[in-house]
Amino acid sequence: MAKIIGGITTAHIPAIGVAMDKGLENEPYYRDLFAIYPPIREWLEEEKPDIAVLFYNDHGLEMFLDKKPTFAIGCAPEYENADEGWGIKPIPPVTGETELSWHIVNHLIENDFDPTVCQDIKVDHGATVPLTLLWPNFTYKGIKVIPISINCERHPMPKPSRSLAFGKAIGDAIRCWDKDSKVVLLGTGGLSHQLDGPRAGILNAEFDNWCMDKIVSDPEAICQYSNVELVEKGGAQMVEIAMWLAMRGCIEGEVEERMRNYVSPISNTAVGVQLLIPKD
Ligand code: DHB
Ligand code: FE
Repeated sequence: MAKIIGGITTAHIPAIGVAMDKGLENEPYYRDLFAIYPPIREWLEEEKPDIAVLFYNDHGLEMFLDKKPTFAIGCAPEYENADEGWGIKPIPPVTGETELSWHIVNHLIENDFDPTVCQDIKVDHGATVPLTLLWPNFTYKGIKVIPISINCERHPMPKPSRSLAFGKAIGDAIRCWDKDSKVVLLGTGGLSHQLDGPRAGILNAEFDNWCMDKIVSDPEAICQYSNVELVEKGGAQMVEIAMWLAMRGCIEGEVEERMRNYVSPISNTAVGVQLLIPKD
C-alpha cells in the first residue's frame, strides 16, 4: 500500500526562486532562510519518495477571480510552469501521477468532497518554487507530483476546519491506494503576510510560531479562527495556512517535528519551514 513518509511546509515566495537562480543563497539577506533546505534535501535523498502530493494555491494563473474552485486536483500527465511573476522561467514540466490523482478524486467524491478535476492545467510559483527549492537543478523530474489547489484568493474561502478535513480525506485515499509508493506531502505558502492594501507588510511572529507549534501538536486549534480572524492576525495572505492544514490533515495521529526554521521577513513574508514525520 502507499505510505506517507512525511510532510514539509515551506513558503513559495517567487523571490526565493529568483535568489536560487542568481546564486544568492549565501548572501546575508538569504543565508538564514536557505540554511534549512540542505538538511531537508538530504532527508529526501535518503527517503526517496516516489510521489509528492503538493498543496498550493493558484494565485490567478488558471483560476482567476471569475472562476475559482474551492478545491481542485491535478489529474494531468504533466504540469507546465506558467508563473508570470518574474518572467516565465523555462523550466521542465512537472510529471503527474494520474492513477493516484483519480483514486484521490474518486475517494473524495465518495466521502462528500467535490473537487474540481483539472486534466489540463499549468502551475504557478505556489507549486514550482517549493519543488525547485526541495529538488534543485530540475531534479524534481525524478518524482511524480499531484498538485492540489485550495482557494486563498477570493472570499468565500474554505473554512480552516474544512481544509483540515479535506486533507484527512486525501490522507485516507493515499493510505488505501494499493501501490507500494512512498508519498511526501508538501504544504506551501504562509505564514503571515499581506501583499497589498493599507496593511501591506504586516507580520506576526508570535502568531506564526503558535501556528507552527499547533501544526505539530494540535492542528484543530488553528481551526478556532475564521478566515477573517486569520487575516486580522497575520494579513490577507495568512489564509495560505489552509495548505498547511490540508497537509497536516493527511497525516493520521502524532508527528515528530524533525526540523524547523522561521525567518521573517523574506520579501513581504514570514517564512516558516517544517519537516514532520508520522509517528505511526
Ligand atoms: C510573496 C508571497 C507570496 O505568498 C506570493 O504568493 C507572492 C509573493 C512575497 O512575499 O513576495
Ligand atoms: Fe502566495
